[in-house]
Amino acid sequence: MPATTLDQLVSLCKRRGFVFPSSEIYGGLQGVFDWGPLGVELKNNIISSWWRTNVYERDDMEGLDAAILMNRLTWRYSGHEETFNDPLVDCRDCKSRWRADHIKGRCPNCGSTNLTEPRPFNMMFKTAVGPVADADSFAYLRPETAQGIFVNFGNVLATSNRKLPFGIAQVGKAFRNEINPRNFLFRVREFEQMEIEYFVMPGTEDEWHQRWLEDRLAWWESIGIPRARIKIYDVPPDELAHYSKRTFDLMYDYPTLGHEEVEGIASRTDYDLGSHSRDQETLNLTARANPNRDSTARLTYYDPESRRHIVPFVIEPSAGVGRCFLAVLAEAYDEQMVKAPPPERVHAVTDALEAFLKSVGRNEKLAPETRDALVERGQAILAGLPETMPQIETLLAMPGADQIETGKKLRGQAQGPIDEYFRTVLHLKPHLAPIRVAVFPLKRNHEGLVAMARELRTAIQSGSFFRTVYDDTGAIGKLYRRQDEIGTPYCVTVDFQSLEDGTVTVRDRDTMQQVRIPASEVRAYVTGRG
Ligand code: GAP
Repeated sequence: MPATTLDQLVSLCKRRGFVFPSSEIYGGLQGVFDWGPLGVELKNNIISSWWRTNVYERDDMEGLDAAILMNRLTWRYSGHEETFNDPLVDCRDCKSRWRADHIKGRCPNCGSTNLTEPRPFNMMFKTAVGPVADADSFAYLRPETAQGIFVNFGNVLATSNRKLPFGIAQVGKAFRNEINPRNFLFRVREFEQMEIEYFVMPGTEDEWHQRWLEDRLAWWESIGIPRARIKIYDVPPDELAHYSKRTFDLMYDYPTLGHEEVEGIASRTDYDLGSHSRDQETLNLTARANPNRDSTARLTYYDPESRRHIVPFVIEPSAGVGRCFLAVLAEAYDEQMVKAPPPERVHAVTDALEAFLKSVGRNEKLAPETRDALVERGQAILAGLPETMPQIETLLAMPGADQIETGKKLRGQAQGPIDEYFRTVLHLKPHLAPIRVAVFPLKRNHEGLVAMARELRTAIQSGSFFRTVYDDTGAIGKLYRRQDEIGTPYCVTVDFQSLEDGTVTVRDRDTMQQVRIPASEVRAYVTGRG
């Protein structure tokens, strides 16, 4: 079963080093996160899968990596200076600030309805380029990667000899000064986008829009997100972005959050290329482009058939890497009872959990929302025991839990049975797993086993595009559990028989079944399986 709460994912990411709050030792920076050792591997694998599918496996795509800093005029003519705003309100009572469309007229901090009128707040971060901070040095951090593609349209066309339709793909950082960053990686201020601008003949855009919708859903499926878990939201006209004629938002069913946007597929017409072009009056633009006196180029395509210069229309599939990462984790997440724990151990955990919840209820130092959240989660776990026992780890990682003295007792009672009778497993597709193979010696103090395991790790790793690790820091059962929790699909064990006949066992993460094969075949075995 996929994750049921966002906290399960937050707890796993923290525990196993997928994601850290940025500059945590100084109190962090709201809405900014760092990718830890496992997070960076999973994120890179997601990006590689996206790039492979959208660039290498198609013959109508080119790649690009444009700079984050761009001439400020880009953002004037793209329309972002004028329209990239969120409605901001202030709470007159507690002085907090909120996005008006997220709070239904009531301050989430103090409950007051004494709010200011909404006013536009531009979300682009500003910076100065060069040693003197004056009007000429002013620049923005890009709020989307897309504009880097539009302003390079002429360069790519001139150097690649492409004919319409063709696309340009790019993955890179984007920055938005979100009023209320929240929900872990879901709404942040610094994030990465995987964007495609696909240029088509005017009049064919609706057909391509549908084709891209299908292609993108197929990719989501290939990374483990079934179609049934994504709703397609046909964005109504009054919610469309300023550049869009029609947009399909792909809404993944996130734990705790429900259906939220993971990717937008917009039909951007000739708005962007038109807005960044000079001589607009000669271009027969259909979009209400921004009048442009600064551009030095006409971003057009010469159509050999009609012998005319035309401004292509654009279909734009745009996905956030962090939101994709969260969806992949949520879908892969599973807590399994491997063996039923004995009743006396369940009773001990039940008693400790009840005592913990009583202490939470009595604790007056906790903020009411923190207390309610702990009690609500704790009660749900209590009602579901013993199956819900692993969620006690998540409960104890929630804000405020560390202030409850009986939490230590609860951890003491629960940790043993959690380790012994349960496993958390990430059923990640092998091509996404941060680590594809882990190699263990059956005994860490046996020279022969250690030497063979280390050699095998090097042999599997050498020349492959996935990560293979060696580990001997625990008993085999514990090592398997640790790898299950981070989604490693194959664990290879070198045992005494290996020293005699050169075979090793390969354990499958999902079935927990082992096969014995020659060590020399392991690389092919794990490579051939995704
Ligand atoms: N170029 C089009 C564009 O930027 P968008 O819908 O604003 O469109 C595209 O963003 C994707 O970027 C979203 O579907 C989402 O996955 C991701 N995204 C946008 N804002 C984000 C934020 N503040 N935090 C995390 N991801 C975000």
